[in-house]
Amino acid sequence: MSVADHLRRRIRAEGPLSVADMMASALVHPEHGYYTTRDPFGAAGDFVTAPEISQMFGELIGLWAAVVWQGMGAPDPVALVELGPGRGTLMADALRAAVGVPAFRAAAQVHLVEASPTLRQHQATRLEKARPIWHDGLDTLPDQPAIVIANEFFDALPIVQLVRDGRNWRERRLAVVADAEEFFWTLTPGASPHAGLLDPGLRQNAPDGALAEICPSGLSIARHLADRLNRFGGAVLAIDYGHAVSAAGDTLQAVQRHKPADILATLGNADLTAHVDFGALGRAVAEAGAVQHGPLGQGAFLRQLGIEARAEALCRAATTEQCAAVHSACARLIHPDEMGTLFKVVAWTRADASPPPGFE
Ligand SMILES: C[S@@+](CC[C@H](N)C(=O)[O-])C[C@H]1O[C@@H](n2cnc3c(N)ncnc32)[C@H](O)[C@@H]1O
Repeated sequence: MSVADHLRRRIRAEGPLSVADMMASALVHPEHGYYTTRDPFGAAGDFVTAPEISQMFGELIGLWAAVVWQGMGAPDPVALVELGPGRGTLMADALRAAVGVPAFRAAAQVHLVEASPTLRQHQATRLEKARPIWHDGLDTLPDQPAIVIANEFFDALPIVQLVRDGRNWRERRLAVVADAEEFFWTLTPGASPHAGLLDPGLRQNAPDGALAEICPSGLSIARHLADRLNRFGGAVLAIDYGHAVSAAGDTLQAVQRHKPADILATLGNADLTAHVDFGALGRAVAEAGAVQHGPLGQGAFLRQLGIEARAEALCRAATTEQCAAVHSACARLIHPDEMGTLFKVVAWTRADASPPPGFE
């Protein structure tokens, strides 16, 4: 059975489904989900992420983590956690760079939060020597100080879409044509309880017909992490494409073979993402008593961490061709027309902690 068949069955049994239910099934259904069943990365796959573009990305984040750890008073052990680690490339590069700070490397225990059994296999191969511990969610992470990294994780979490209708916000749902295969969008007849989670300004001032998005699981993960920071200390680094301030707009998109795809025609066979609302995440973190630093553009953040010097260092030991590839990868990560400004970086810490490197 495909994801589409599974969704049709559910809709016929339960009625129209929320966008969040649709996204969760399409991406991480235990048998048929997009991530569950494949390795989607790279030129032969559907998309390329920053750690897959260059080793510099993970290396700089590894050194960032080592400096953060020193600022925490060098706790031993410390949990080095990655949410949605993909092929394990970022963590492998981070750990290699962290060898330069041997006490950190020795103290760090690697924990991976990953929904996909297929990608867990890749991570197991890549990170065998680090002996990672896998988790289905955050609840089983150890009660320890932790440094948490999340690159392109929050954009994969299910969102709810709300449409303003007079005084109410109704929820967008997925329906299926009677006695046929085609999906279509519909709206709930009444007001959605999720409207209470919208930014108050947006909730009151958005025009009729405006579409707004909420990521309930992202907000709950942000609150959970903020609570952990308050209890055990540490820092969270989240990198994703999105907006700094909550705003209306439909950002749900499907990507297949590096191109935008039709969402309803590719369920379970294309990546599905939504822009991350860093304003909403920052409010959730603040409500839980922690602090959001940033957002900064990915380009500004990587420059602060010294990506250009790292590119020069790699070039010193490289052929002319390899050096050109290093510079092209560097430009892709930091140039404003590439990933430099669309991708944003935030860090979360306890309210009494100093801003982490890159955010001073
Ligand atoms: C876009 S990929 C990013 C991978 C990696 N961080 C990188 O930058 O290459 C999203 C990752 O999050 C995982 N993922 C998606 N939804 C998840 C969920 N609800 N819980 C845990 N992992 C999830 C996917 O399996 C995948 O590893």
